[in-house]
Amino acid sequence: MSAQATKKIEVIASGDRPILPEGARTVPVYIMGKKYLLPETLTIQKAIEYAGYQFIRACGCRGGICGACPTVWRIQGDFQLHFGLACQTVIQENMILAQIPFFPANKAVYDLEALEATGEVVAALYPEIMKCVGCNTCTRACPMDIDVMEYINAAMRGDVARAARVSFDCIQCGLCSARCPAQIAHYHVAQLCRRLYGKYILPRAAHLEKRVEEIQAGKYDGVLEDLARMDHEELRKRYVEREIEPLDSTGWEPEDKTYL
Ligand code: SF4
Ligand code: SF4
Ligand code: FES
Repeated sequence: MSAQATKKIEVIASGDRPILPEGARTVPVYIMGKKYLLPETLTIQKAIEYAGYQFIRACGCRGGICGACPTVWRIQGDFQLHFGLACQTVIQENMILAQIPFFPANKAVYDLEALEATGEVVAALYPEIMKCVGCNTCTRACPMDIDVMEYINAAMRGDVARAARVSFDCIQCGLCSARCPAQIAHYHVAQLCRRLYGKYILPRAAHLEKRVEEIQAGKYDGVLEDLARMDHEELRKRYVEREIEPLDSTGWEPEDKTYL
């Protein structure tokens, strides 16, 4: 067989057209109002690509972390709206899909250096938090299972530390804000609380301050210049041969202590 003929029968799997198990069932799904028959095992994101669409927005990490793919759907004949991440949710029969690539939430402008970690500061920048009616719709919309109403209520009480901790897993998808009858931009409120918490409430790490001083004094300039001069192969070799910190690193130190 010639090389050309061999090439013709090669099957190349792409991210857009996954190889499906034999006999894979297809189900009707509506995208942009149009009906498609799509393999039932695909995530919403893969199903949309399988239908022939290409994402240039509303898709990022594909791993449930970046918050770029919030999706709203309704199952035909059911009144209820559902929410989730397109990269993490498997399609269902008669799903009517709508992607929300960006939610235009109000974002306060502030200088973190000039603030204090108090409830008054949060309420001054986001006064709408005081309009929360306690409906809990935000919590029900959250694909990360965060108690969204609780972190907003913590912010209302002036408990910045609790608001920061409860909201820690927020991926800024905006689904909570799309549903809130009080027009609250939850994820921006949460981000402000985490910034205040990190800057003013959490104790400073002494070893980190020492390391920052060393960096500013130029301790690592030489090694960074050496790395920048290396070619791809040399960098790869360095990476593969590096000393790796064990999972339980209590008391561990590298053999080469040059850069400690
Ligand atoms: S959706 Fe809005 S009003 Fe309802 S509990 Fe959440 S923050 Fe409060
Ligand atoms: S809190 Fe809001 S923005 Fe954050 S992950 Fe949950 S729904 Fe998305
Ligand atoms: S693509 Fe990043 S969360 Fe879905």
